[in-house]
Amino acid sequence: NIKILRTIADVKNYIQIIRRQGKTIGLVPTMGALHEGHLALMHAAKQKCDIVIASIFVNPIQFGTNEDFTTYPRVFESDCVKLESERVDAVFHPEPLEMYPQGFNTYIMVDGSKTDKLCGASRPGHFRGVATVVTKLIHITEADQVFFGQKDAQQVVVIKQFVQDLNMNVVIQVVPIVRDKDGLALSSRNTYLSETEKKAAYILSVSLKKAKRNYLAGETNVEALKKLTADSIMSEPLAKLDYVELYSFPALEKIEMVDQMVLLAVAVKFGQTRLIDNIVFGG
Ligand code: PAJ
Repeated sequence: NIKILRTIADVKNYIQIIRRQGKTIGLVPTMGALHEGHLALMHAAKQKCDIVIASIFVNPIQFGTNEDFTTYPRVFESDCVKLESERVDAVFHPEPLEMYPQGFNTYIMVDGSKTDKLCGASRPGHFRGVATVVTKLIHITEADQVFFGQKDAQQVVVIKQFVQDLNMNVVIQVVPIVRDKDGLALSSRNTYLSETEKKAAYILSVSLKKAKRNYLAGETNVEALKKLTADSIMSEPLAKLDYVELYSFPALEKIEMVDQMVLLAVAVKFGQTRLIDNIVFGG
């Protein structure tokens, strides 16, 4: 049975024994409403570490004031069943006040070009919240390895930056995007979509694949690739474009021609639901 840890003291007690046994700890941070994308991270962690701790915490400080913090799906019981089927050893599920007690006043902020664009531009303060909670989770669990999905490509870039800058003694592992059979990237926010919106949302992966095909057929002009991706997404009447961006990857620098590895990333709203997706190509 999975061990349920609700306080930081619970985690410290739990890992003390594991550490004494000389076992390695893998951490998989999540906000819950688990799907096969999350479970792929659990699976990778199980393969690489002796003990796997998942965290389920809807982190208030990474949500903007008009975002979905209060409505974000919270289904802890069924999440635990899924974690048990992946043989995850423990789940850390704290209350917000356990993580941010009164007087909490320290934040991790990655500055500059890696956070001023993409989701950093459309969600001010988001990556400060992510970096702060991930730092806390790494310290609380004393993880040797932490697992993230390529679905949130910029999140991975930001996390690798502060882990390096702050000399954190942890290995960051990245797992490919898990999609449904028709290509839609799995996301906890997909549960917000109506049937019609969900059908419309397939335009994301379709458009990204189309851009990659065009690149492979010889189109290397960044503006042209961005334009054909945006046009393709806007051909779907329910899609409201937030951004289509193309940067060098993983540096996230502005480029004019695809002459290296690049990240083509999109954020699109369907009704109130904002979805992201990306593809890496070139090099
Ligand atoms: P959440 O959106 O729950 O995602 C948890 C992890 O699962 C992230 O690393 C994310 O990239 C990965 N993931 C989500 N969908 C995926 C998919 N379709 N394929 C592969 N991996 C996928 O990302 C967060 O939570 C939070 O920002 C967090 C890191 C937990 C900090 O609060």
